[in-house]
Amino acid sequence: MTGSRKNTLSGKSVLRLLDLTPEELQLVLETAQTQKAEWSLGIHDTPLSGAAIAIIMEKPSMRTRASFEVGAARLGAHPVVMSDSRSAFSRGETVQDTTLVLERFVDAIVIRTFEQQKVEEIAEWASIPVVNALTDMFHPCQGLADLLTIKEHKGDLAGLTLAYVGDGNNMAHTYLEGGALSGMRVRIATPADFACDEFVIEECEEVAALTGATIQVGTDPIWAVTDADVVITDTWTSMGDEEEHDMRVQAFQGFCVDAALMAHAKEDAVFLHCLPAHRGEEVTDEVMDGEQSLIYDEAENRLHAQKALLYLLMTKA
Ligand code: CP
Ligand code: NVA
Repeated sequence: MTGSRKNTLSGKSVLRLLDLTPEELQLVLETAQTQKAEWSLGIHDTPLSGAAIAIIMEKPSMRTRASFEVGAARLGAHPVVMSDSRSAFSRGETVQDTTLVLERFVDAIVIRTFEQQKVEEIAEWASIPVVNALTDMFHPCQGLADLLTIKEHKGDLAGLTLAYVGDGNNMAHTYLEGGALSGMRVRIATPADFACDEFVIEECEEVAALTGATIQVGTDPIWAVTDADVVITDTWTSMGDEEEHDMRVQAFQGFCVDAALMAHAKEDAVFLHCLPAHRGEEVTDEVMDGEQSLIYDEAENRLHAQKALLYLLMTKA
């Protein structure tokens, strides 16, 4: 299922895309493409038969939860979903105790939470793979699905221009990392007060120097999308920021992805949004529902990308 590439991901954790090498990123995408094609042909192997996967949600989720649960089931693994405030890491028990007990039952931990530090601590204690299903800093699984969607529609990622317009949030960080690993030209436009974290930019610039990617950040949406192959945005109000919603709507005026902004991108540019979207805020209905929009393919690819990732992390090299 991994083609000619060696599976160097066996047993590893993925807490951000920079946990992958450029080759490992391509391995995940190629495996996802193969598995997706095989599934549609009726080849329904269950390589993780007998395994169990904890899926822990400390923030709301629809896509991530459903796609991991179905992905685990399709691989033959049993998903153990914990999403209320009385389970897993939400009861005041130490991260050490919860992790060391949980891994007696399951073979991988998928977790969505607030602090990146928490998933790092879980991964330090765990002897099984840990997968970040979104933190305040990163959303690597969404990044994999998005890169898979771009690859399906545009072919090789290297050299493509990816423009992100909006908040310098977990998704912006993830596109910086995914673009750097894939040799893309990444342009990020945010309001000055909502820029990406400097340390993520610096780490991505180091990777870009090795892959041929370029990383540019600025504050002008038109600059970002001009001649872009891919235009992406995300909510201005991420989970946890809800009290700032009204202030943010004011601060992000001029950053809405509408048809006029899309007209600056290449004619065959595609539009992505991880969803959920706030239609009428960061993006218009016209763009969301327009011919360039791939949002539903992108959402479906959560399943295929994560299924490939779990398969690679949880099978022997
Ligand atoms: N895109 C995404 O992660 O969606 P959910 O919050 O619904 O999981
Ligand atoms: N930036 C968003 C992504 C949701 C999938 C959030 O963190 O809420």
